Amino acid sequence: MKSIKNFSLIFIALTFILLSGISISTAQEKVQPSLYERLGGIHAIATVVDDFVERVWVNDVLNQNPKNKQAMGLEKPALKYLATELLGQATGGPQKYTGRSLKEVHKNLNISEKEWDAFMADLKASLNKFKVPDKEQQEVISIVNSTKPDIVTVSNIK
Ligand code: HEM
Repeated sequence: MKSIKNFSLIFIALTFILLSGISISTAQEKVQPSLYERLGGIHAIATVVDDFVERVWVNDVLNQNPKNKQAMGLEKPALKYLATELLGQATGGPQKYTGRSLKEVHKNLNISEKEWDAFMADLKASLNKFKVPDKEQQEVISIVNSTKPDIVTVSNIK
């Protein structure tokens, strides 16, 4: 009698372990890799940021704004570093952004819609250059777009 009881307990325990194993593996299959992983991690992100900062640095529309130009006291490598950190964090990577708040940094730069469009066109060119797939491009663009209210302070086209 005791051995039947033991057997039943073992059977129930095994069934439970088996079922929880199945549900865990099903859950794991459903979890899609983070955007950070799909982009290719920090190496890919740093490469895109490097190319992107090179473009914005010589962008005539952005350089027409004297506030931008004068604020470019921020060294290019530092901007690349901070933007890489920020994008790493925003896409689900282990990085932690250590720069100043975007609102604080950009509030006195008088950045217009026209400058925003020029900036986004450069971003698109860099994403295309490294053949980032459409889905991931859209996700990166919507992350960057979400910062627009902190960046663009002048609504009229200059
Ligand atoms: C038209 C768009 C933009 C323009 C013209 C612009 C311009 C600038 C300028 C001139 C600086 C240097 C400010 C200073 O040294 O005081 C700066 C810093 C920075 N910007 Fe932008 N920016 C733009 C959009 C963005 C966006 C969308 C992001 C991020 C999503 C971003 C991230 C940063 C970061 C991380 C810094 C450095 C912060 C720090 O020094 O702690 N910027 N930007």
